Amino acid sequence: MEKDDVANHKKKRINLTIREMEIDDIAKVFHLGEKLFTARKVPNLYRTWDEYEVVSLFQSDPEFCLVAYSDDTIIGFALGSTISKTGSAWKYGHLYWLGVEPEYQRQGVAKKLFKSFMDLMLENGVRMLQVDTEADNLAALYFFRKMGFGNPQQHIYLSLNISDLRRQIKEK
Ligand SMILES: CC(C)(COP(=O)(O)OP(=O)(O)OC[C@H]1O[C@@H](n2cnc3c(N)ncnc32)[C@H](O)[C@@H]1OP(=O)(O)O)[C@@H](O)C(=O)NCCC(=O)NCCS
Repeated sequence: MEKDDVANHKKKRINLTIREMEIDDIAKVFHLGEKLFTARKVPNLYRTWDEYEVVSLFQSDPEFCLVAYSDDTIIGFALGSTISKTGSAWKYGHLYWLGVEPEYQRQGVAKKLFKSFMDLMLENGVRMLQVDTEADNLAALYFFRKMGFGNPQQHIYLSLNISDLRRQIKEK
């Protein structure tokens, strides 16, 4: 697949503003994320897009939850937090969720969101920023690479159906 084939949405004109997320934005961000994240078959269960995810990030790190507006419509968001590890002098930042309304993609909205998020991270003493995405999410991979991310690390998820295992133990 060619790089430019990944998105072929009809574009809409943008009058872009980035600001901190507010309580009234929660439902709008959640529904936009439902459109973006549940449309993809995401095998990764360690973070799931649901109401709790949006509310808990907003509750724990409201200053790291940003929304992109065009006129009075939310067209994108970036939700993250910072992490300090015991024994490490480094402070880490993690961008958990980044999304842009399909009709507004490929017009620099995520780039603006990301730049604002990165400024916040720098102001908060973060030295290393991390993101993650599925290996087949080419739009995200191209985007993060363009933003300067590198050194991709593979992570393999294994699963075990323990209800089957319990049945086998009982049958013995
Ligand atoms: C990934 C995503 C956030 C990008 O948003 P966007 O607003 O379209 O991105 P931008 O317009 O700021 O793109 C900046 C650069 O990233 C690269 N890029 C972004 N989307 C791309 C795509 N679909 N195909 C190829 N390159 C892409 C390009 O280099 C682009 O610059 P260019 O348009 O000048 O070539 C958007 O596709 C999206 O919401 N995807 C669904 C949710 C998701 O997967 N989120 C990421 C994981 S949490």
